[in-house]
Amino acid sequence: MTAVDEIKSRIHIEELANEIPTVKLRKSGKNYTGFCPFHENKRTPAFVVFPDSGTWRCFGACNEGGDIFKFVMKRDGCDFSQALKTLAVKAGVELEPLTPQRKEEDAHLDRIRQLLEESVLLYQHHLTRNPAGKPALDYLIKRGLTAETIASFGLGYAPAGWDTLMAHFTGRGYTIDELKEAGLVSENPEKERVYDRFRNRIMIPIRDTQGRMAGFGARILDPNDVPKFLNSPQTSLFDKGRLLFGMDHARRAIREKDQAVIVEGYLDVIILHQAGFTNTVSPMGTALTEDQLRQLQRLTRKIILALDADAAGAKATMRGLEIARQSLDHGDEMVFDARGLLHEESRLRADLRVTAIPEGMDPDEVVLRSPGEWESILKNAKPIVQHVMDTMAAASDLSDPKEKDALARKIIPLIEDLASPIERDTYRSRLAVLLRVNEESLMQLQGGDSVRQKPTARRRQKPSRREIPGVSEIKNPLRPLENHCLRLLMFKPDLFLALESELKNSKFEPLSVDDFQSAEAQEAFLLLMEAINQQEASVNDFLIDHQPETLTEFLRQINAGVNLEGTPDERIYDDLFDTITRLRLVHIREAIDSIRFLVTELAGWEKNQIDERESLLEYNKKMTELTGERLRLEKALQPEINFQ
Ligand code: GTP
Ligand code: MN
Repeated sequence: MTAVDEIKSRIHIEELANEIPTVKLRKSGKNYTGFCPFHENKRTPAFVVFPDSGTWRCFGACNEGGDIFKFVMKRDGCDFSQALKTLAVKAGVELEPLTPQRKEEDAHLDRIRQLLEESVLLYQHHLTRNPAGKPALDYLIKRGLTAETIASFGLGYAPAGWDTLMAHFTGRGYTIDELKEAGLVSENPEKERVYDRFRNRIMIPIRDTQGRMAGFGARILDPNDVPKFLNSPQTSLFDKGRLLFGMDHARRAIREKDQAVIVEGYLDVIILHQAGFTNTVSPMGTALTEDQLRQLQRLTRKIILALDADAAGAKATMRGLEIARQSLDHGDEMVFDARGLLHEESRLRADLRVTAIPEGMDPDEVVLRSPGEWESILKNAKPIVQHVMDTMAAASDLSDPKEKDALARKIIPLIEDLASPIERDTYRSRLAVLLRVNEESLMQLQGGDSVRQKPTARRRQKPSRREIPGVSEIKNPLRPLENHCLRLLMFKPDLFLALESELKNSKFEPLSVDDFQSAEAQEAFLLLMEAINQQEASVNDFLIDHQPETLTEFLRQINAGVNLEGTPDERIYDDLFDTITRLRLVHIREAIDSIRFLVTELAGWEKNQIDERESLLEYNKKMTELTGERLRLEKALQPEINFQ
């Protein structure tokens, strides 16, 4: 459950609203009515609270509504992130620190980044100007790197001393704490001695997507040193699970080539870039995370994992299938976990493929030997299931019925996990051909066999490890519609113009933030509008660069919801138009019901507390408007409504 959902499940809108004494909520059916705290007139009950969906609405002057966050935003005149913070405190839910210290924090992070930038220069200086850096430079050149590559990746050398860097930067006014926070110095366990973290190593600057410094990967020069690679420690800027090495250089190419390639090593990335394969990135020596895949998926759906023969091979495949993400020698290295990857693939709407690098070689060696060979390795990338089928088949004796059976039992669950029925059918036939059995017997293996633990249920729910449906997601029938609308728009922002003109021509309101009730959806909608209305970057790029942390999880969930890939634009457009119409119909029907309630409720209020006549007039007018609008919306949906 996200923090937002957690807060929503703990704070009830009726209680929150009732904290304002003038609201005076009264139970009316399953809802509550009262006086709107947000507009001047306190004599007409126009405020309705819907406990089921956790929302409120003012049917008077405000004509506005939303969830608990929107309530606090209105009440306190604050923004979403501030409301999130206020309610998190109230609900006892912990959030990452956000505004208002955010500005201060940002300035602080900028200073740490500045320190890291300066250390890139310092390490570069030692690589190229200091005779002590000569062996490191020679080593890089021997590995096939050109001077341009060394410069463009900002490679450097950390001298062997214990305080070269510390002395330099304290002399320039940086504090030890700042050096610690940048991950540049370490402290002994007794905390009595601080020293340079990186010594006698090749320094590889690691930057975030926007090219800002995050930390370093540092490779040994002396083969006897351990560990072979030493990364920056986990710091506020260096998050191994989020960073992708080379991303700042690769972004444009990934988008242009509509393909991303993931390799395992930093040096592989650098040399592949040098050879023109600039759409290459690598994780930080750890297992790929969903967040990393997601970053790539925002740029392209086609992601190729180039794994070394062992990781991609039969041994690791078996291991990956049985004990996913098992930690190996150095932490959780990039093990091939077919099942996990298939889940990510369907959640991210990605096209994930795997390719194996020739036995005993690294990508850098392959491409230095022959760029054409690397090209064909990429061409040979196979869909995950196909890859597993082929590697396992190659490692089994398929003349042995028992081995055939074992293989089928391993692969069928993977096939069953696929989101697309067409893919499932295809792979089932392929597996049958591969094993030379008929599909019937494979189908038998599926039914009720121990191989499958509730595959149909899993498929329907969209496999997910992290997503537990939020309480309010279940309760609030509007949320799926709101989210779907955003999903469609974010998938094809180009449709927005057509949508606007159709709404206009049909005399409907333009799409607005008021079409959404959840504050997250409203925020996301605003961000999306901002993205659509600017010219500097593509909509997607803009969203990536400008999304606040408070929305990351929400946007991730939205985009992971449904696979839209391959759906024709017309269908997406129709779906979008229908979704908005449906959303508005739900709103209008709810409004009509509420006003009926408010009208009957008028009688129940003390005459001196309200202005009954004024209220009735207002509500009658509103009712006429609403029923007219309802009719038009229903007409817009007519083909469906008249469907017998
Ligand atoms: P070369 O050996 O110079 O070709 O470097 P490489 O990048 O190809 O290294 P290798 O294939 O051994 O490892 C791949 C990646 O795993 C590296 O780029 C690192 O990110 C990570 N890695 C390897 N060894 C270690 C280690 O000892 N510690 C950590 N933290 N990461 C490592
Ligand atoms: Mn290597």
